[in-house]
Amino acid sequence: MTGTPTRVRIVEVGPRDGLQNERRPVPTAAKIELIERLAEAGLPVVEATSFVSPRWVPQLADAEDVLSGLNRRAGTAYPVLVPNLAGLERAIAAGAREVAVFTAASETFNRKNINAGIDESFDRIRAVNDRAGSVDLPVRGYVSCVLGCPYEGDVDADAVVRVAERLIEAGCYEISLGDTIGAGTPTRARNLVQAVGASIGLTKLAVHFHDTRGQALANVFACLEAGVATVDASVSGLGGCPYARGATGNLATEDLVYMLHGMGVETGVDLDALVDAGLFISRLLGRRPASRLGQIAALRAEESDT
Ligand code: HMG
Ligand code: MG
Repeated sequence: MTGTPTRVRIVEVGPRDGLQNERRPVPTAAKIELIERLAEAGLPVVEATSFVSPRWVPQLADAEDVLSGLNRRAGTAYPVLVPNLAGLERAIAAGAREVAVFTAASETFNRKNINAGIDESFDRIRAVNDRAGSVDLPVRGYVSCVLGCPYEGDVDADAVVRVAERLIEAGCYEISLGDTIGAGTPTRARNLVQAVGASIGLTKLAVHFHDTRGQALANVFACLEAGVATVDASVSGLGGCPYARGATGNLATEDLVYMLHGMGVETGVDLDALVDAGLFISRLLGRRPASRLGQIAALRAEESDT
């Protein structure tokens, strides 16, 4: 065992992974306010939006306006998701300084999500990486379905290792392992990061747990013990994946930060400001926060109103 890191870099994915799943349109100004609040709360990386097909994800059709409308904070990164060269060109034109590509360890999920198999996804990813490299944009790579697929069931760890290696070969600087449907449990999660880490190096690895079965925080803990130091999370537990039925939001950032700070692990995040950002977006969406800390704060706010 490598031992828990003393500092964890949190990649906030709520404005993208979270909001992409909302059916009712969220106003562009509210998306911008959410991103700015999250950056202000000290999150070092806030994934801002996604330049995918607006027909596939209508909620994020305003990607240009969100990205170009941001008042950017020095020292914060605002990566955006791109599925292909067309998305990358849109992102560059809107002022992106970092992008993320995505594929899956499951052939069927990939076809449902991006209308392409794994090999074809790599043709697109290589094209994106080549163009991004020509303008010095760093590229992060996601692998979905690393601990289970909604269509194929169990996913072999070797398949995940191979896809992660191919992303590194294509030029990605970091690989985020996505438990898209929250199927994982701690021992399997740790075994997987150890297997992928042994191949590409633990420092290039991030974990991305959806909390569908309430395992996300326990899975993160197990992966921290294995030495992972970058963790994706979504404010207020927003989200899911529109092409994975029943997938809930990611691990809530507030609960992750609470655990890390309680363990003496630094994040640079102001937890109160983060909880406020979660309350802001939950109120806007008209629902209770999915984070436990947000629920406590919402109850306190209701009590002080009465
Ligand atoms: P397609 O329909 O096969 O695309 O979709 P196409 O290349 O045949 O093009 C069809 C039309 O879309 C054309 O327009 C293109 O120009 C246009 P038309 O000629 O018909 O007017 N088009 C675009 N327009 C704007 N931006 C673009 C773009 N590309 C093509 N980038 C495609 C293929 C990949 C585009 C589509 O399947 C897509 O956008 N999929 C994205 C789905 C998605 O966003 N899923 C959620 C993100 S992944 C995720 O959440 C998992 C993650 O969180 C990790 C985890 O939890 O596991 C990352
Ligand atoms: Mg996700």
